[in-house]
Amino acid sequence: MISIAQPLISDQEIEEVVKVLKSGFIAQGPKVAEFEEKFAEYIGTEYAVATSSGTTALHLALLSLGLKKHDEVITTPFSFAATANSILYTGAKPVFVDINPQTYNLDPYKIEEAITEKTKAIMPVHLYGQPAEMDSINQIAEKYDLKIIEDAAQAHGAIYKDRMAGSLGDIACFSFYPTKNMTTSEGGMITTNNSKLADTARILRAHGETERYTHTILGYNFRMTDIAAAIGLVQLKRLNNFNNSRIKNAKYLTTHINEICGITPPFVADQVKHVFHQYTIKVENGKRDKLKDYLTEREIGTGIHYPKTIYNQILYQNLGIKGNCIQADKAANEVLSIPVHPGLNTDDLKEIIAALKEASEKILK
Ligand SMILES: Cc1ncc(COP(=O)(O)O)c(C=O)c1O
Repeated sequence: MISIAQPLISDQEIEEVVKVLKSGFIAQGPKVAEFEEKFAEYIGTEYAVATSSGTTALHLALLSLGLKKHDEVITTPFSFAATANSILYTGAKPVFVDINPQTYNLDPYKIEEAITEKTKAIMPVHLYGQPAEMDSINQIAEKYDLKIIEDAAQAHGAIYKDRMAGSLGDIACFSFYPTKNMTTSEGGMITTNNSKLADTARILRAHGETERYTHTILGYNFRMTDIAAAIGLVQLKRLNNFNNSRIKNAKYLTTHINEICGITPPFVADQVKHVFHQYTIKVENGKRDKLKDYLTEREIGTGIHYPKTIYNQILYQNLGIKGNCIQADKAANEVLSIPVHPGLNTDDLKEIIAALKEASEKILK
């Protein structure tokens, strides 16, 4: 079986975890502080705040910005549910704007018509590892005095016009879930250049404590452990190599898929470094699920990211939060992610292409 994702854990991560386990500091301690410092340095922001997951990072980022009931946040419906769920946690309402059908990222040309007097922020997602169109989004945010939260959960090391994803808005969030470009097992990180936002996030992360046993605001326990940070520190050093392998694998796949009928390879925008968290092909004419089944039979792992727009999830329908995003709904029926991770070897890549060629002959024509 060629898996769709595979965390690459070496002896180094294992040794560092063992050191932490023997140190006595196994909750949040010096390793978390070191990981925050190194991650901020890598992204090019002043501050980084480690959290227990990407979801808790988003939740804290939104709370730090002061989001609350009756506020609205503009976001994409074509993402993992955590993106919009984090808006719900604060009591605010996600307002869904359609995507660009080429990049699958938030379409900046559709944002302005969704702005109301309740709109407080825009949350673009750098989907599959490709940065959203941040210049246009930043211009709109400036014009209407809105905050920007980047959901960079899938974009560690991605670049938009010489700047790293995670340094392109007011505050950004990463996930270190095992399928991501780097992992800490579970874990997340907030990055920002705003000291107030970073301080608030730190206080909220630990029960609103401004001093030991002085609880000033309602906070949470969203801390990362030193065990997770020890893994993260090693993974961060390996991240550029991981991303280079993803990009190389993607290049190989695209070169061959360009010659296969019925399958469209991913589009890469100008002036971005796409780090291929996912390599997602487009299969039109209702044949996506057939291709998925074919690849499963050939023992090639696939994923549908995502089979439903968020507003079509039962939760959102029950809440009466609607959306009308034609491109996103179309994409949900056409996208298929195939393996691109750095654990693939040349034989795996050849096998994937051979299977796609066969499928094209047999079922896509
Ligand atoms: C776009 C996006 N946002 C948020 C998250 C949430 O991250 P986590 O699973 O670490 O909570 C994920 C990952 O799963 C994601 O892909």
